[in-house]
Amino acid sequence: MKQIALVTGAAGGLGKQICEILAEKGFQIVALDLMETNALKQNLKSLGDSLELAIGGVDFSKPETIIESLGSFLPNKEWTVLVNNAGVSVGGKLLDGSLAHWNLMMNVNLTAPFVLSQAFAKNSQENNIKGSIVNISSMVGVIGAKKPGYAASKAGLLGLTKAIAMQAGPNIRCNAIYPGAMDTPMTADWDAETRKKIEAGTPIGRIADPREIAQIVAFLADDQQSSYLTGAVINATGGQYLGQ
Ligand SMILES: NC(=O)c1ccc[n+]([C@@H]2O[C@H](COP(=O)([O-])OP(=O)(O)OC[C@H]3O[C@@H](n4cnc5c(N)ncnc54)[C@H](O)[C@@H]3O)[C@@H](O)[C@H]2O)c1
Repeated sequence: MKQIALVTGAAGGLGKQICEILAEKGFQIVALDLMETNALKQNLKSLGDSLELAIGGVDFSKPETIIESLGSFLPNKEWTVLVNNAGVSVGGKLLDGSLAHWNLMMNVNLTAPFVLSQAFAKNSQENNIKGSIVNISSMVGVIGAKKPGYAASKAGLLGLTKAIAMQAGPNIRCNAIYPGAMDTPMTADWDAETRKKIEAGTPIGRIADPREIAQIVAFLADDQQSSYLTGAVINATGGQYLGQ
């Protein structure tokens, strides 16, 4: 029986790569996104039969509805991987940021991973199965940025990662990755000057291809490869802020 990996933000730049690489590794994919279901299926058609279920229209800004949206999927005994990848970065700096933007980022970037991780841990414990949770944070959650809601939510996700690792039981590993800049729709509006500046400050000399981050997700998802890693926070920045 194939193992199931549930990936959030599956329609996004990194999410799609995560789905593809986990499908290549033999997982059946359950894809969640805000994008409407038919469009999500279309977006993930490269997965072929590895796409177990596409659940679109799931709005993480309303965390109380997330479990409901999973419907009959939850009791599935083969749910062994959860990737909390969905994320949003909106709004202004300290003095002009709105509470609405703050709440949106907290809900999508932090509360939704909590809700899903809780459901995952319960399912794993009740059915005595091994599982791996991978949380996608950001470099901003470690070094900070002039984006209070985004920085706080991504730093919070690192704290949540460690709390889950401590409490979910010996069968569940929970780790986080913090990428630096990645080439995805989230960064598509960066101008050439911004990109050049980031590349110049990155020892690897370029912005990450999301596939490179997805490879790390696959490593953390695989109990054969990362069996003694839990509560770990993996720097995937290309060395972007070393020495600063
Ligand atoms: N792109 C970067 O440079 C970068 C750097 C560090 C961390 N990250 C993180 O990587 C993750 C993936 O980002 P990406 O770069 O692929 O961005 P993306 O915008 O391409 O993908 C984000 C996904 O999250 C989904 N999403 C947004 N709001 C949602 C909501 N309310 N409910 C449900 N789903 C929602 C979107 O539909 C989208 O599919 C995010 O957590 C992001 O914060 C990105």
